[in-house]
Amino acid sequence: MDIASRPAEPAENTQVADAAPPPHSPPVIRREDYQPPAWLVPETGLDFTLGIDAAGITSKLKVVRNPEGSGEAVLRLNGDQIAPLAVRVDGAAVNDWRLDGSDLLIDLPGAEHIVEVETQVNPAANSQLMGLYASNGMLCTQCEAEGFRRITFFPDRPDVLSVYSVRMTGDKAQFPILLANGNCTAQGENADGTHWAEWHDPWPKPSYLFALVAGDLVANHATFTTMSGREVDLNIWVRPGDEDRTQHAMDSLIASMKWDEEAFGREYDLDLFNIVAVSDFNMGAMENKGLNVFNTRYVLADPETATDGDYDAVEGVIGHEYFHNWSGNRITCRDWFQLSLKEGFTVLRDQLFSAAMGSEAVKRIEDVRVLRSAQFPEDSGPLAHPIRPDSYQEISNFYTATVYNKGAEVIRMMRTMAGPMQFRKGTDLYFDRHDGEAATCEDFIRSMEEGAGLDLTQFRLWYSQAGTPQVAVTLKHEGTTATLHLSQTVPATPGQPDKQPVPVPLRIGLFNRDNKEHTGEQLIVLTKASDTFVFEEFDHPPVLSINRGFSAPVSIEFDRPVEDLVFLAAHDDDPFARYEAMQSLVVQHLVAAVSGALDEAARAEGRAAIGEAFAAIVTDSALEDLMRGELMILPAESYLAEQMLIADPGAIHAEREALKAWLGREYAQILGALHDRAVAVLYSRDAAARGARKIKSQALGYIAVGNNAEGARRAIAQYRAADNMTDRQGAMLVLASLDVPERAEALADFHSRYEGNALVIDKWFSLQAGSFHPGVLANIRALAEHPDFTMTNPNRVRALYMAAAVNPKAFHDESGEGYRLIGDLIRRLDPINPQTAARFVPSLGRWRRIEPVRAAMMREELQKIAAEPSLSRDVREQVTKSLG
Ligand code: PHE
Ligand code: ZN
Repeated sequence: MDIASRPAEPAENTQVADAAPPPHSPPVIRREDYQPPAWLVPETGLDFTLGIDAAGITSKLKVVRNPEGSGEAVLRLNGDQIAPLAVRVDGAAVNDWRLDGSDLLIDLPGAEHIVEVETQVNPAANSQLMGLYASNGMLCTQCEAEGFRRITFFPDRPDVLSVYSVRMTGDKAQFPILLANGNCTAQGENADGTHWAEWHDPWPKPSYLFALVAGDLVANHATFTTMSGREVDLNIWVRPGDEDRTQHAMDSLIASMKWDEEAFGREYDLDLFNIVAVSDFNMGAMENKGLNVFNTRYVLADPETATDGDYDAVEGVIGHEYFHNWSGNRITCRDWFQLSLKEGFTVLRDQLFSAAMGSEAVKRIEDVRVLRSAQFPEDSGPLAHPIRPDSYQEISNFYTATVYNKGAEVIRMMRTMAGPMQFRKGTDLYFDRHDGEAATCEDFIRSMEEGAGLDLTQFRLWYSQAGTPQVAVTLKHEGTTATLHLSQTVPATPGQPDKQPVPVPLRIGLFNRDNKEHTGEQLIVLTKASDTFVFEEFDHPPVLSINRGFSAPVSIEFDRPVEDLVFLAAHDDDPFARYEAMQSLVVQHLVAAVSGALDEAARAEGRAAIGEAFAAIVTDSALEDLMRGELMILPAESYLAEQMLIADPGAIHAEREALKAWLGREYAQILGALHDRAVAVLYSRDAAARGARKIKSQALGYIAVGNNAEGARRAIAQYRAADNMTDRQGAMLVLASLDVPERAEALADFHSRYEGNALVIDKWFSLQAGSFHPGVLANIRALAEHPDFTMTNPNRVRALYMAAAVNPKAFHDESGEGYRLIGDLIRRLDPINPQTAARFVPSLGRWRRIEPVRAAMMREELQKIAAEPSLSRDVREQVTKSLG
């Protein structure tokens, strides 16, 4: 909602929020400046008069002076692009309120008052999708982190917990369903065609967990009986016509509720749990108390329109939001610097849940892949920050892979060091001790120390230091003694030039080359800058398997013979370590190839070793296909770039594609046989059939790069025969990159087949923007003009432009056109949706680690953005730091 569309002037007071452009550099908020709130709000009443382009809100706050606060007599209520149309204290209109920036200040003489404020907003004009907004004719809210202040004036901070009572009135035909947090306590109809509902949430909550939804919705309904025997009504609300695609989400919800009881002893605490799917949403989903709001893409799934990956994502996100009911809602965050308290812990919980629902090994590999491709680059770039940041300008910029995924890894290390049973004692103590509170990361750490029996004194550095620790490894053998030497460095990051060593828990195994067995896994913890560990009774040099299960989120530098990696890729009994050996083999080879260090003989030798391991994986009959599919994936170009101080993306792309083509040609026969075998497996959702689909796409990818004509033939056959989206998308993915006549035909068919299904049309955009087709950039520019493209729907924007930004061929095209594409996008999107616009900045922010010609072009785009006079706080912070 822009400031010009503010609905009305405030009554009886001419002061309005400062409409001047924001200052050049937004103020910095610091963790160390935390002060407890001066006023608490034990009760909040909200009365909404609903309309798509005008909604009226009357708030009624019971405010009491906080005995632990500063004693200030002035009540500060945050606002953002709203105006107070009327203000009452203890029932009487007051005029001596004032505005400080966007905040409403009211002097209060006593220790307890009732404060009422009236505001009005325009949901249809709210393109930021924060606060109360319209989506497809329905109304919904998004309040985390600071969206509530765009609805009404409030102490909009997570340590102010309040019991909410909500009343809403709206046109019955337009908004037949009226939802808010908690339970519906009363409803009725008015003579004028409107109806109303009252909702009450008995659990005190911060404003960021408030939610309201009104619209024409239908529910998939089920019930769940909790461990203490309470029956809970479950509803998944969607637009009419979508209800047939909600069963997987419902199954996932029921599985989540059961799993949290068993794995963490956590029971649901209301009689009703509602999920609503909305198509315009900035993020994945939101854990509002008793009323989760989801991006449709994490709710809707059926075999025809959702891939196996989509099914997994639905399960994971449903679990994640449900688990927040305890890790986030019952215990929330004291301030936004503690965000990882809820997010890191909840990501770990969703990872453990997904592992329990499917394959633990495959899930672990997928999680590490996400960490390495998203978090490692963040941690080594200009936006690096600790999992508990020390400062921010715009909190929305801190919903990052570091806070979420590294945050999960940090808690996972505690679990590894304590063991699962002790870890559970730690979480039990945490939930017990802090239930109902707004807590800190320090509170969590202390519960872990006392409950799980860990000494985390030095471990706290994982919360305060940014940067991925690097651990250098050497292994020597003499007589019968193997000596392992480890040394660590934590790289300097912005604002943190000097680092201290952190505890690095490493699960290791030492393999005997002859019987291919190890002597038993051990956990060693490197706490010093360097240390030595000695192992006896090895007649021959053992093969070291280290950081098994990715027990620590570090990067291991271990220069070792190719034979050892081939050995581990074939024989390691830790599935992650086996995957890792294969990845290292390829990384070592490609890094050498890119740096020009390989002559023809060395290249042939490197390829032969990779080929040997690859063929073993393709043909190993003891491997499950889901795991085989994982092992066949080559390291991402972004991860390869991370291995080099300065990367040449063009050379990385060329070398990686060349290796892929070589494997495709060299192993054409076994890959063809693998593809044939997978094609013969009928569709089902069981692990064997999902595995078959995974290797089908993998094999096809290699075949197509090695032999375009054969790839096109198989892909078009797979496309035509497809009875599910996994196969269809897998075939389309291959065709989209090939310069063959079948490409256009398949793309046209795909579009017409799924016209009107927004989530599948998103795939149609992504497939093309993510392709390695020679004309990819021109194609993306053309797609931006397609009638189905819109800048106001974040899913569509991401489908086209995020796919382009993470496509190394498009983004790093030597013309610089990819950088201009993303730079233009950021400038055009910022006035519409700053939060989503800011998410594109980090891709350009990588410039320091890219070869100089491209780096200059990337930097130029950042400078063009920085020169815009009226940037949002979101983009301003990211661009300034990226240039810094
Ligand atoms: N708290 C949400 C989650 O992780 C993410 C989110 C943040 C959603 C901000 C919307 C806005 O689960
Ligand atoms: Zn979350």
